Amino acid sequence: MNITVKSGQIQDQAVDLIVVNHFEGMRSPVGATGAVDARLAGAIDEIISAGDFKGKLNDALLLYARRQLNARRVLLIGLGPAAEFTLERARQVAATAARKARELGVKRMATVVNGASTAGLDVQAAAQSLAEGILLGLYQFNPHKSKLEPDANRQIDEVIVVEIDAQKVPAIEAGIKAGRAIAEAVMATRDLVNHPSNFMTPTDLAEQARKIVENRPLSLQVLEADEMRALGMGSLLGVAQGSDTPPKLVIFEYKPAEAADKAPLVFVGKGITFDTGGISIKPAEHMEEMKGDMAGAAAVFGALQAIADLGLAQHVIGITPLVENMPSGKAYKPGDVLKASNGKTIEVISTDAEGRLVLADALVYAGRYNPAAVIDLATLTGACVVALGEDVAAGMFGTDEALKQKLMAASDSSSERLWPMPLFDDYKERIKSDTADMKNSGGRYGGVGTSAIFLREFAEGYPWAHLDVAPMTLSERDRPYTPKGATGFGVRLLVQLARDWAG
Ligand code: BES
Ligand code: MN
Ligand code: ZN
Repeated sequence: MNITVKSGQIQDQAVDLIVVNHFEGMRSPVGATGAVDARLAGAIDEIISAGDFKGKLNDALLLYARRQLNARRVLLIGLGPAAEFTLERARQVAATAARKARELGVKRMATVVNGASTAGLDVQAAAQSLAEGILLGLYQFNPHKSKLEPDANRQIDEVIVVEIDAQKVPAIEAGIKAGRAIAEAVMATRDLVNHPSNFMTPTDLAEQARKIVENRPLSLQVLEADEMRALGMGSLLGVAQGSDTPPKLVIFEYKPAEAADKAPLVFVGKGITFDTGGISIKPAEHMEEMKGDMAGAAAVFGALQAIADLGLAQHVIGITPLVENMPSGKAYKPGDVLKASNGKTIEVISTDAEGRLVLADALVYAGRYNPAAVIDLATLTGACVVALGEDVAAGMFGTDEALKQKLMAASDSSSERLWPMPLFDDYKERIKSDTADMKNSGGRYGGVGTSAIFLREFAEGYPWAHLDVAPMTLSERDRPYTPKGATGFGVRLLVQLARDWAG
């Protein structure tokens, strides 16, 4: 789908659908909506005066132009109150309009940049949100369907973003371009997570990584099991040994010339391509959701893709340990002791607490880059989902106040919600082991805190934050720009952080 920007008047566009908007609480249509209304002999004004369209957020009303426009249809979208309009809402309403247009079989539609005049949003940022909302809202995943439902083939060919003030066009174009790069990365992440584990083994993911770095200013390194053994990564390899599919440690590097001498940001992502729980096997119910246990790694893939496409002036490394957690005759067992690459020993209490084990060696490996900061993303605990709720927020832990503040700022501007969680030393007591330096599980209570305190043992020598993204990565709900399924959570957040970091 093309998104083009045109300076002109929206009421003049020859398209299948014109999208205009209305803020809740306004008495009559203004701006582009007013101009369309004038052609429709006041039809929109009448609907609003009658109280039949209040402009509530994401409300949509379809009108027919009856030959008064070069467009057959007009879609009126509610933006909610002007004072409450945000970039997040801009993303939502763009998605609502695009999805409605697709449902109608529209090929070409025209829209304005919502919120850039009345609500006073920065025009470039609003245009970025518009592109993100349109593309993310239209996302579908159906490569495994042999037959599509009749309407599922419908595609919008072109969205024309119409701007009356020619001076604003360059900023809108820049915003659309950035929004497209980010949305494509989020969708690529969603694809990786939505694919079932038989299509997305560590080998498949490493192959996908190769495709990402092709034609991009990114370099890639894929460590195999024997190389990991040479590095002493006994913790990661312990998890891997139960599976017939070999582990991979995929490392991306983005090092633009202008930031080559600067300490890198390092993103680490948990990449369990399927989590059966291992010998501490999970209950059968909902186990299929564990195909998404590589969503942290997938977000790191997407973030590196977008950062390279945006050409950010920031040195960034992505490290993703990719492992399948299986029970088998070769599998690691409760009571086994593993030795990580920093020399620390771990008594395995639960083979289902595998994420922290693969992250341990990845976090140690991150230290070799002398990072400015390391941020890991992991679908680490069910306890985090219990604490914060599905689709509400990811838990944020960290050893550095400045880093946590930067993450919260990036969370605010990307609308990917984080919530701070404590790293109390008390949790360390809970993972004391009689046999080894620590246990990999502190039991049920405080499960999210003990998982984070475990990771801290391996995140030494740099500012570190851990994001438990388990509540956010696979959604049961259908929301305007986040259809049911993989959300791509974390990509927009990490891109925003890297953008802010570059200054
Ligand atoms: N991948 C799971 C966590 C998870 C649960 C992610 C639900 C997404 C949705 C993780 O490996 C796990 O099994 N964690 C255990 C830890 C426990 C054994 C200490 C958990 O949360 O129960
Ligand atoms: Mn597990
Ligand atoms: Zn897991």
